[in-house]
Formats: sequence, structure tokens, C-alpha cells
Amino acid sequence: MTPIVFRTVLTALLCAAALTACEKSSTTVATAVATPAATDAGLPLVVVHKSPACGCCEAWVTHMKSAGFPVEVKNVDNLDAIKTKVGVPYAKGSCHTAEVGGYFVEGHVPAADVKRLLAERPQARGLTVPGMPAGSPGMEVPDGAVQPYDVELVAADGSTSVFAHHPP
Ligand code: CU
Ligand code: CU
Repeated sequence: MTPIVFRTVLTALLCAAALTACEKSSTTVATAVATPAATDAGLPLVVVHKSPACGCCEAWVTHMKSAGFPVEVKNVDNLDAIKTKVGVPYAKGSCHTAEVGGYFVEGHVPAADVKRLLAERPQARGLTVPGMPAGSPGMEVPDGAVQPYDVELVAADGSTSVFAHHPP
């Protein structure tokens, strides 16, 4: 449940009980959403382009929000145009394409790597986790296994290098 839905439901429940509770609930819930899952004021907006039917994309959006990023989702039927626009190299693609701080973030890149990218600000197009490795954020499997994968940095000329190994 998203914080907003949670807040709406909670407020509705409390309002049904007593009108004065509405004031109280707003204060209480506002404090609750300001803790770990809240947007970090220092982090830039992540715009995620994804297909409307993509479940693992939603899971990655949740991962980014939990890490404090404000996220805007744009559902599109064809992702090729955006991948071409931001410069995701051929064969380095995944299920969704995000834009943040002037970079692209392709696929299931861990939020910690995106934060490092934004802190170091290399001359580059962005980060990608090609394909959809099991165990990457949004691709968690029930037994917790992580298929080892690399986050790749895509340089301005389109060449790639390893930015991070997972698990470390
Ligand atoms: Cu995916
Ligand atoms: Cu996705």
C-alpha cells in the first residue's frame, strides 16, 4: 500500500469514528510517512518509463521510493523511442528506462548505485543492468538468491565499464 493510499484509508476509518480524529490522524500519519520511506529532499526526481503491464518495474519503483527518491511513472507502450533518445546501447537494455539528474538508469539498478552516480557525477550517459537478473532490486526471488550481476556505466561514447558488482 502506498503511503497516500494508506493515509486515505486511515483517515477515512478514523473519520467514520469521530470527526475530531481526522485532525489527529493527519498529524500522526504525516509523521509516519516522514520517516524511512519518505522522500529525501536532497534527491532528484526519477522519471520512470515503463510498460503499463510491467510488474517488476513497479517493484523497482517501490525500491527507489523506499530509498528516498521522488518518482514519477510514465506508462508507455513502446520504450524504444526513449531508449534511443537517452542513448541506451543496443543489447544493454532492460524492462524500463528511467531518467535522473541528467543520466539514464536502465533496468534493475540498485538505488545505492544511483546515489553513488549522482554523488560522483562522471561524464557518462548513465547506468544499466542489462536483462533482468534474479535477485536484483525488483527481481527478488522467494529464496533470496542473487544471480551475480554487474551494474555497467555507459560512457558518453557508448562504451561500457563495470560500475558495481552484486553481490559485492
Ligand atoms: Cu524488470
Ligand atoms: Cu522494469
